[in-house]
Amino acid sequence: MNNFKEKALFLNYIVKKDYYKDIKNKMSAFTQHKGTSTFVHSRNVAYCSFEFANFLERKFNANFDYETLVVGCYLHDFFLYDWHEKGGNHRLHGFTHPKVADANAKKFCQITKKESDMILSHMWPLTITKVPKSKEAWVLCLCDKFEASREVISHLPKKIKIKFD
Ligand SMILES: [Fe+2]
Repeated sequence: MNNFKEKALFLNYIVKKDYYKDIKNKMSAFTQHKGTSTFVHSRNVAYCSFEFANFLERKFNANFDYETLVVGCYLHDFFLYDWHEKGGNHRLHGFTHPKVADANAKKFCQITKKESDMILSHMWPLTITKVPKSKEAWVLCLCDKFEASREVISHLPKKIKIKFD
C-alpha cells in the first residue's frame, strides 16, 4: 500500500466520527511535550500504533480491530488540562490522567468498553493494577511510550541531543 492510501485509510477511522472536530479543538489547546500539543501527540501515537499493528498483522498473522485501535489511541490522553501547571489536582498526573481521559471520552464521545479499557491501561506499568487486556491496548501502551520519548528527544536543546548521537 502506498503512503497516501495508508494515511487515508488511517484517517478514515477517526475523521468520520461526529466528535472528531470537537476533540481536535479541545486537545489542540494543551501542550503535551514542548512543541507538541496533546492532539498531535495522540495523532502520532495513533499512527505509530496503526503502522505497528499492520506490521504485526503481516509478520505474525495477528488480527486487529483498527477502528478501536485508532479511536482508543486518539482519546488516550483526553484529560483537557495543562499538566505542566503546578498545584491543583495535577500532582499525580501520571497515575490519575487515564481515569480523567476515560471520563471525558465517555462524556464527549461514544466509546466502547474495549476503547475505555485501552485508555485506562495505557500508563501501565505505572498504573500497576490496570494491565492492558487486548492486543490493541498493548500496542497503544508501547507506542505511547515510544512516541513520548521521540517527541521529548526531538525538542531537546542541541547540546544535550549530541550525547544521544
Ligand atoms: Fe497518557
